[in-house]
Amino acid sequence: MRAAGSRLVQLSMNRSIRVLRVGQRYVRDERTLTHLCLVSRAMGAESIFIEDAEKDVTGTLDEVNRNWGGDFRAVLGTPWRQVLKEAKKEGRSVVHLTMYGIPLQEKVPELRELEKLLIVVGGPKVPGQVYHEADYNVSVTSQPHSEIAALAVALHEIQGGEELKRTFAKSKLRILPSARGKRVVQN
Ligand SMILES: C[S@@+](CC[C@H](N)C(=O)[O-])C[C@H]1O[C@@H](n2cnc3c(N)ncnc32)[C@H](O)[C@@H]1O
Repeated sequence: MRAAGSRLVQLSMNRSIRVLRVGQRYVRDERTLTHLCLVSRAMGAESIFIEDAEKDVTGTLDEVNRNWGGDFRAVLGTPWRQVLKEAKKEGRSVVHLTMYGIPLQEKVPELRELEKLLIVVGGPKVPGQVYHEADYNVSVTSQPHSEIAALAVALHEIQGGEELKRTFAKSKLRILPSARGKRVVQN
């Protein structure tokens, strides 16, 4: 048991997770895109690819990186087909989150063994090709909800909670967790 446990920890430390947001927007939803970026960054992904986004998404992220550290990147404008193709070329497993997929809890042991992942989330409409190209089509409940929620739960389950303990290098600000009020110090 102990050996299996330490192997899990070892894998989680070497894991590389990227996120891809697929799909055209029907309306401007910069807030959704910004939240996808913030959740990806806070919860252990190293970058997010968004084909269709305005520059202000990266502005917000630059400010968050400056204040709170780390080097999370949002890559805008790369066609999603190209992101998928390159991910596969470098041996990255493609995990597409969809309400129609296999329940996450059935796949999580297998997903935790993967070292390089591209987690794909959609917008209002996801092209059929994504379902065919994905190595895994996985659902977070078989009910419709939100790409932000699905991403957060999947990141958490795949990393077994390790992402909650993560710290970010070179931050200007640091929170001193407190039971009441806000305590923030400058580094
Ligand atoms: C507005 S929803 C569209 C729902 C879509 N019909 C689907 O395939 O899940 C936008 C995105 O949220 C994510 N999503 C929504 N519900 C989900 C669920 N139960 N499990 C996994 N992902 C979900 C998917 O990535 C989806 O593309």
